[in-house]
Amino acid sequence: MKKVGNHNSISRKIIYSLALMLTFSFTSFSQATPPAEATPAAATATAAPAAAAGGDAVAGKALFNANCAACHALDKKMTGPALRGVTARHAKDWFYPWIANSSAMIKAGDADAVKLFNENNKSVMTAFPQLSKQDVDNILAYTDEPKPEAPKGLVTTDDGGLKPDNAGGISNNVILGALCLVLLMLVIMLFFVNNVLTKVAKANGIEVAAKEERLPIWKAFAKNQFLVLVSSIFLLLASGFFVYGYLMQIGIDQDYAPIQPIHYSHRIHAGSNGIDCKYCHSAARVSKNAGIPSLNVCMNCHKNISEVSDTTATPEHSKAFYDGEIKKLYAAVGWDGAKYTGKTSPVKWVRIHNLPDFAYFNHSQHVTVAGIECQKCHGPVQEYEIQKQFAPLTMGWCIKCHRETDVKMEGNAYYTKIHEELSKRYGVDKLTAAQMGGTECGKCHY
Ligand code: HEC
Ligand code: HEC
Ligand code: HEC
Ligand code: HEC
Ligand code: HEC
Ligand code: HEC
Repeated sequence: MKKVGNHNSISRKIIYSLALMLTFSFTSFSQATPPAEATPAAATATAAPAAAAGGDAVAGKALFNANCAACHALDKKMTGPALRGVTARHAKDWFYPWIANSSAMIKAGDADAVKLFNENNKSVMTAFPQLSKQDVDNILAYTDEPKPEAPKGLVTTDDGGLKPDNAGGISNNVILGALCLVLLMLVIMLFFVNNVLTKVAKANGIEVAAKEERLPIWKAFAKNQFLVLVSSIFLLLASGFFVYGYLMQIGIDQDYAPIQPIHYSHRIHAGSNGIDCKYCHSAARVSKNAGIPSLNVCMNCHKNISEVSDTTATPEHSKAFYDGEIKKLYAAVGWDGAKYTGKTSPVKWVRIHNLPDFAYFNHSQHVTVAGIECQKCHGPVQEYEIQKQFAPLTMGWCIKCHRETDVKMEGNAYYTKIHEELSKRYGVDKLTAAQMGGTECGKCHY
């Protein structure tokens, strides 16, 4: 009988498609389970603590890079010896006087000290009386850290660089592809079901209703004058809003982050290595401009730092990439690894912040007198891989802060008197920058 045949073909088709789908989804998702051997490896990594007791290796790394990296590396001899595992070479108490003032120890005739001095071509190590015992402990904890393996998700390439390791987990693309296939399969199934149902209906003599002719929606809309009026008003208002927004944005470069000739990362220097902003932008304390450091400042450290450590590489930027950027610095100053060749070429940094010429802004007034942190105006610079403009630098932005920020009076004799007079006039304890005259046009406009 015809009916029975039809019935059979429905269930067969449905069962086939279901089976196909199920097999497929099982095979694709079974790969997603993590490899079992990952766990013991992770456990051993955490089980190797820093040997020096009471030291914080993270704080130590920052101190090391800021003070010691100019002459020492962990695994390579530079001006001074390689320092990894140095705690095994001397008694613990030996380090405090040595780091505080090594020359004094050599003069005093300490056997270890004299021996070291002679072994290292009688180079003199800088004295660090400012480092506390805790600081030294932290640095030693850092030098005691075992040599790091490539960070998770990265593997070491033949040339010593790092590249993302995709072998372990299955990539997102594969999962996406699988999902697409499953969807496609569902669509095909629906098509079959629809097909079969129509056939059944026909076989049973049921009429499938044809679609009615309807007025197209846009014609219906055009006939309704009220609707047309309301929507045109809405359209006008909306576009006005966007045009206004666009016009107000002209000349505002918030988030501007140009590509610089050398990929210089504030995250690596000011962040992980804890270098003070004012070491490089020293002019910010005393003058109108913060200035960009000259390449000599870079070479104070980079004469000895020709490559980044393995752990500095990220999935976006490999160690080879960062090392290549340091090479660019060397090419610019004409450094061949041992001496200056005299062949220099300036690095053309792209200027990011730029107020119009008619506005006057002074760094020292804000940084030194008002004691405002750089980050207040420039954002979390120590996290920027690429420098950008954080604040809008509009007049409204300057004025808003002048209205909200109290003037720092402590320890400023000049202000004590002004403060007395003005606070009486305004009847307040604290004065904002605005009350001191920070909203007068002439203060900011020439
Ligand atoms: C100006 C270069 C310079 C700087 C900066 C420097 N050192 Fe040294 N360091 C040396 C030299 C050179 C020696 C070898 C001894 C000598 O010649 O006086 C040395 C030796 C040492 C030793 C003994 C190493 C051994 O093998 O026993 C330790 C420990 C040490 N430095 C720690 C530090 C620490 C910690 C810092 C940072 C706070 C630092 N140094 C900064 C140049 C430097
Ligand atoms: C080791 C040197 C160094 C240190 C430390 C440093 N900077 Fe910079 N800074 C630079 C260099 C080089 C540039 C120019 C390249 C660039 O824009 O990335 C720059 C650019 C900038 C700019 C953008 C300048 C422009 O063109 O408008 C700002 C803002 C800035 N730094 C703020 C900071 C702050 C805040 C800190 C501290 C958290 C800091 N810097 C620490 C070297 C340094
Ligand atoms: C106080 C020391 C110091 C100064 C000054 C310094 N650097 Fe560095 N720089 C480092 C250290 C340390 C590293 C390696 C960081 C690591 O491996 O974690 C580094 C890494 C780098 C790198 C590779 C990572 C990156 O940021 O792309 C470049 C490029 C670089 N420096 C350029 C510069 C330039 C340009 C200047 C001058 C404006 C400069 N450095 C000044 C200490 C310094
Ligand atoms: C009150 C806000 C404010 C503070 C605080 C501030 N800056 Fe700026 N900074 C600005 C403005 C505004 C500009 C743009 C100046 C211009 O174009 O004339 C600027 C520009 C810069 C530039 C570009 C070069 C230049 O001198 O024009 C650097 C670099 C910079 N700042 C670094 C710093 C550092 C480092 C600190 C902390 C020591 C700091 N700034 C603190 C607002 C600030
Ligand atoms: C984060 C807050 C802050 C921002 C943003 C800021 N200022 Fe200021 N500004 C201050 C404070 C606080 C003082 C008072 C400093 C003092 O004690 O003299 C001040 C003082 C001044 C003065 C001196 C006023 C006087 O009475 O002599 C000028 C000029 C000035 N700012 C210009 C600007 C300009 C231009 C901008 C925007 C590009 C700006 N400031 C952005 C906080 C800010
Ligand atoms: C705290 C500093 C400050 C004070 C006070 C100040 N201005 Fe401005 N003004 C600025 C800055 C910064 C800009 C540049 C804004 C930009 O580029 O978007 C600016 C821009 C302008 C512009 C150009 C239009 C624009 O938005 O670019 C005019 C006009 C102007 N100011 C007038 C005044 C007048 C009038 C006063 C006094 C009532 C005054 N300003 C007080 C900082 C100030």
